[in-house]
Amino acid sequence: MKLKCAFMHKRIAVAELELDDATGMIQKVNTIYAPEHFPVGVTVKRGVADRAAFNEWWTDRSIPASRSGIREALETLEIANTKMLLVRCYGLSLSDQYWICPEGSDLTWDTINFFYNDFSEDIGDVLFGAAKKTDAFNFSSPDNTSDGNLKKRWKIINGKRYLVKGGSSPFRQQPLNEVIASGIMDRLGIPHIPYQVVWEQGVPYSLCKDFVTEDLDLVPAWRILKTQKKSNHVSVYQHFIDCCRELGIDGAVPFLDRMIVLDYLIANEDRHFNNFGVLREAETLKWIGFAPIYDSGSSLGYDKMPAQIRSGQDITCKPFKKHHEEQLKLVSDFSWIDFERLKDVDSLIEEVLTAEGTEAYMDETRVQAIKESARRRTDHLSRLAKTQMPAQEDSTNDDVQENIAAAYHFAKPDHQ
Ligand SMILES: Nc1ncnc2c1ncn2[C@@H]1O[C@H](COP(=O)(O)OP(=O)(O)OP(=O)(O)O)[C@@H](O)[C@H]1O
Ligand SMILES: [Mg+2]
Repeated sequence: MKLKCAFMHKRIAVAELELDDATGMIQKVNTIYAPEHFPVGVTVKRGVADRAAFNEWWTDRSIPASRSGIREALETLEIANTKMLLVRCYGLSLSDQYWICPEGSDLTWDTINFFYNDFSEDIGDVLFGAAKKTDAFNFSSPDNTSDGNLKKRWKIINGKRYLVKGGSSPFRQQPLNEVIASGIMDRLGIPHIPYQVVWEQGVPYSLCKDFVTEDLDLVPAWRILKTQKKSNHVSVYQHFIDCCRELGIDGAVPFLDRMIVLDYLIANEDRHFNNFGVLREAETLKWIGFAPIYDSGSSLGYDKMPAQIRSGQDITCKPFKKHHEEQLKLVSDFSWIDFERLKDVDSLIEEVLTAEGTEAYMDETRVQAIKESARRRTDHLSRLAKTQMPAQEDSTNDDVQENIAAAYHFAKPDHQ
């Protein structure tokens, strides 16, 4: 069976679609009304949309198969796959303005968007382990379109939308790391999303406000990277800069300088291309600029033992180079860093990692190892800032393979 619907961008009809109602895949793109409103990286050539790219975008919009607890949740909901969840909430999200309007329905963006209309708690409850209900589930929830591996849900608190996100076993450090990363970015004047920690039944979660409004789209860097074909001799970093320039997105170099420096300081291991992005105005398609930095929790040795944290070995680096030291070489300007402001990062780390409740997950040795390694990295950066010459043309040496960058839809579950 096919499901006919209009593909919508806020109030603008982009195209007529046919979806397979068993798999949720886009089977056909019929009449195209507004080719320029297709998602970034999905091209329309001579009136024909690139359906493979469109399906990749659509799949990326669903909860990844690697999300913690997703198999159990699908079983409870009696739904075959996460793409069908997407169809059940009309593809609506709290990070952009795309949705699908079934043929013959009188739905409008104004009455169903989640930015100012309420949404159901049902899907969030199930994703957080709730059992079957006696009455039917209400599938209208932005949780059906949330990305990432960690357990998460959207909540309306005092009329505002917040993302609640857990950490992984055994240390559950990611929510605490988000607060530390926010504190470091405060000190360095790097635009970022503030996070706080909330505790539920002895488990820490991070809480951050939706930074996208009803007028905006968050366009992940992964989409931007897809707008041009990369030549083999061009580095991933240079390719990304070129894509931004072609699209008319300003400020890539200073933004990346700041992100790379932060990620070095906190030894971030998961800054893939879906963990940063650019904001644009949905109706006019005007670029606003890089989104404030979010999702910095997979850092500070979050899954490592103290000895490993101390050694500083085996730290993964993304999105451009496999090693942080190599990635740092891409930074063209360090003059904005006020190292004086980083003097109390030790106490910031101590304060966050020893707050009430953390004793169930952290011990003194771990906290000390994290403090020490952060101090060492700051000292190294401060020396480098005095000696490193502005970046020369980048080569493909040590480049991250492109398929690793956003591949979690194919990844095995690694979070408990
Ligand atoms: N405050 C926010 N406002 C709007 N959208 C957000 C916000 N925080 C996150 N998002 C969106 O939700 C997605 C998932 O969130 P996040 O990256 O924090 O989760 P994660 O599970 O840590 O991801 P990963 O698998 O990369 O570790 C982000 O990629 C982004 O598109
Ligand atoms: Mg993420």
